[in-house]
Amino acid sequence: MDWGMKNRISRIIKPASGRTVMLAVDHGYFMGPTTGLEQLNKMVDPLLPYADTLMLTRGALRYYIDPGVDIPITLRMSGGTSILNKQLLHEGTVCSMEDAVRLNVSCVAFSILVGAEYERDTILEFTKMVDNARNYGIPSLVVTAVGRDMVRDARYMALASRMGAELGADIVKTYYVDGFEKVVESCPVPVVIAGGKKIPERDALQMARDAVSCGAAGVDMGRNIFQSGSPVAMIQAVRSVVHDNASVDEAYDLYQDLKGNVPAQA
Ligand code: R5P
Repeated sequence: MDWGMKNRISRIIKPASGRTVMLAVDHGYFMGPTTGLEQLNKMVDPLLPYADTLMLTRGALRYYIDPGVDIPITLRMSGGTSILNKQLLHEGTVCSMEDAVRLNVSCVAFSILVGAEYERDTILEFTKMVDNARNYGIPSLVVTAVGRDMVRDARYMALASRMGAELGADIVKTYYVDGFEKVVESCPVPVVIAGGKKIPERDALQMARDAVSCGAAGVDMGRNIFQSGSPVAMIQAVRSVVHDNASVDEAYDLYQDLKGNVPAQA
């Protein structure tokens, strides 16, 4: 692997732990002003010291994030449908690689629809992105297993994740399921989990704990951080699980302690 590619990956997946806390705030590209992100910078700025990378769209990056900030960017490159559309996630390319380079991103991300209508369109477009990104030494993250009506079990997740890697992804983002070790074992690149819809903080910490125990390289978590009762406390609790191997009890205690000490956000 090229030096630039390795360097960019090591800015996101920290060599000391081999893990990462990715903060996903890209929801606006299909959900508009998602709860908690109405004024994205107000939510995100206090979280940045605790995130290893920020995953977002080029618009959110340009409009809401200070270019002087020191955080690697994972740029969402796919889109084209909204939450109002029945063909949700029939996504194409919505950003050129030249613009990604102008934005000095460390990783580019694309959603594919394995086992769903438009599977082929999304996969072929994803592989074009991988080729373009490699020309610039930029790693690719594939987002898979998102979508309604999909049976989310380890067999399906393993299939979708392995496909993503074999088609060129350097990092796979998918959902945690029972038997997740099978997903990780059969995927040759690091796997991170999405958080999904907001659940109680302790349950989200348990999910992160279970995922890393099964070999996940960390989380790419959004709503379970920024919709938490205390986002700044929650991201630090998630971080303790991912990087410090904290137990769920330890992480939840940390969340409760910090929650009492930090002002409510937004
Ligand atoms: C999924 O396609 C997008 O990247 C989402 O914005 C991301 O998965 C959201 O993270 P979470 O599910 O943790 O809110």
